[in-house]
Amino acid sequence: MQAENILTEVRDNTLYITINRPKALNALSIKTIVEIDEALEEYMYHEDVKGVVITGAGEKAFVAGADISEFSDFTPEQGKTMSENGHDTFDKIESYPKPVIAAVNGYALGGGCELAMACHMRIASENAIFGQPEVNLGLIPGYGGTQRLPELIGKGKALELLLTGDSINAAMALELGLVNDVVPQSELMKRVQEILQKIYTKGPVAVSKIIQSVNAHYRSGSYVGDGYKTEISQFSACMDSEDFREGTAAFLEKRKPQFQGR
Ligand code: CAA
Repeated sequence: MQAENILTEVRDNTLYITINRPKALNALSIKTIVEIDEALEEYMYHEDVKGVVITGAGEKAFVAGADISEFSDFTPEQGKTMSENGHDTFDKIESYPKPVIAAVNGYALGGGCELAMACHMRIASENAIFGQPEVNLGLIPGYGGTQRLPELIGKGKALELLLTGDSINAAMALELGLVNDVVPQSELMKRVQEILQKIYTKGPVAVSKIIQSVNAHYRSGSYVGDGYKTEISQFSACMDSEDFREGTAAFLEKRKPQFQGR
């Protein structure tokens, strides 16, 4: 079936998944995540595909987050399902047996930053902006951000970004180790292809076992650790709060939120 929200293409042994909702800055609707999952599933053991690139359509955004218009009236139960399903797909990316690189071509906020962090590597264009602004909505990250951000940049800096909701530019992301490299936007795909083509000359069995072994360190034996489960339950609990209703309504009405702490 033709996907509505992503474009897929196999070229030079690489599966390209392009999130294609430029009018909403490629925000991840629930259906978009399902389509990413299906594309990954289809090509997981496909002989022609040795690696994956995930990117966003256009020059402004990689992904500006989960689609706020879709979940602003969610109940905790719906929030839990949303978060669990997102975790399943992002875990699939992280444990994919072939290298997955995020080509971050602009805003990577909230679920977009989380999507990039689930990939094995991140190459950013100079205009890329990273952040976890969920706190501005009276919410927490729900697609692994509270776990993967500290893993990548350390606890102190991660807490600063998570608690302030501040965004950082590509140069700062490189300095913090959030991204592997920063290049001009016109060279983004060339740089990503260079890395993948180098990996394709190595033994695929070893490549997949390296990914598995590195992941094992962060999951201490069980694939989904306690931190990830805690995030799902706290994300859904936010949906019971007046702050979450106010935060998401304020975003959609393009005004500043008035949080009451309830
Ligand atoms: N969800 C839904 N729509 C979004 C969106 C999102 N995450 N981000 C942007 N859009 C929409 C805007 O509503 C706007 O739509 P209209 O043209 O219909 O008004 C369109 O995309 C363009 O956006 P802006 O006009 O806001 O563009 P800008 O250049 O002024 O600002 C931006 C860009 C700073 C990225 C701003 O759009 C923004 O702050 N977006 C939201 C970022 C965010 O909060 N992300 C976290 C989402 S929650 C989440 O991800 C939870 C989770 O972990 C699972």
